[in-house]
Amino acid sequence: MEKTFIARAIFPDVLELLAQHFDIEANQEDRIYSEADLAQKLRGKAAVLTTASEIMSAAVMRANPQLKAICNMAVGYNNIDLGAATEAGIMVTNTPDVLNETTADFGWALLMATARRVTESEHWLRAGHWKKWRYDAFLGADVHGSTLGIIGMGRIGQAIARRSMGFNMRVLYHNRSRLAPELEQAANQARYASREELLSTADHIMLVLPHSAASHHTIGAPELAQMKRSATLVNIARGGIVNDAALIEALRTGQIAAAGLDVFENEPHFNPGFLTLSNVVLTPHIASASEPTRRAMAECAAANMMAALKGQRPPNLLNPQ
Ligand code: DGY
Repeated sequence: MEKTFIARAIFPDVLELLAQHFDIEANQEDRIYSEADLAQKLRGKAAVLTTASEIMSAAVMRANPQLKAICNMAVGYNNIDLGAATEAGIMVTNTPDVLNETTADFGWALLMATARRVTESEHWLRAGHWKKWRYDAFLGADVHGSTLGIIGMGRIGQAIARRSMGFNMRVLYHNRSRLAPELEQAANQARYASREELLSTADHIMLVLPHSAASHHTIGAPELAQMKRSATLVNIARGGIVNDAALIEALRTGQIAAAGLDVFENEPHFNPGFLTLSNVVLTPHIASASEPTRRAMAECAAANMMAALKGQRPPNLLNPQ
């Protein structure tokens, strides 16, 4: 039996399934391993199941030339040096599609909470401040009838756009490439817009693009300055796409109205400046966290590992070359 390492805690039954096929070392106590510790743990292992928290650098791979597959339990794979893996002949897989709808649902949860000040008003109520109804208490922005701007129009972006039909919204999107007309049609007749047009005209902006060197700080001070002062920004993609220090400043000065964030630079050690602001909704990277979806992601990563080590092409191979 080949040896594999399961780098983070996962559903016990998925672990049992893997144990029927491999000699597994599992991290069910859920320790977070540094790159050096990971390199050590991977000695003699043919494959590893990782999450977005494990940094699979070229150095980790160089230290483990026997490694055949890295199976990420996430659709994003910016934690893995894909070029180095390809050069080393290591297969890399992710878990696309199974999380599209759940992640889109959560994008909407954050948008609604942010625009309508749900968590801010709840904290105020819990703190015992509610003494009377007021006409101007927690006035927010309307979502229905407004313009939604989506940056990154992959499968999750399109699922978000579809949900906007019920809110009678206009959808603008910006993406590396334009969608086929039938996909635009299905995405609530989304219209391709330049980044500048989207930033300056959207009422609510949702970030759903992958993180890479090219998308690092897609939203920084200059972009925030282009947005409407009444606009909201939601990031369910990855930390690093937004310059968090610039966003904190924009929220503090009223450059934009509010933000909803599920991902952060340097998470989980995010910028403490966010905690001083009432106009930001903060959640701990849970956009895909429904029971069925997290289970589907774990099963998908396990299926990729089994295929990779059985000499078959894994269903979600990122580097077929
Ligand atoms: C993903 O799948 O990329 C989610 O963000 C979980 O890490």
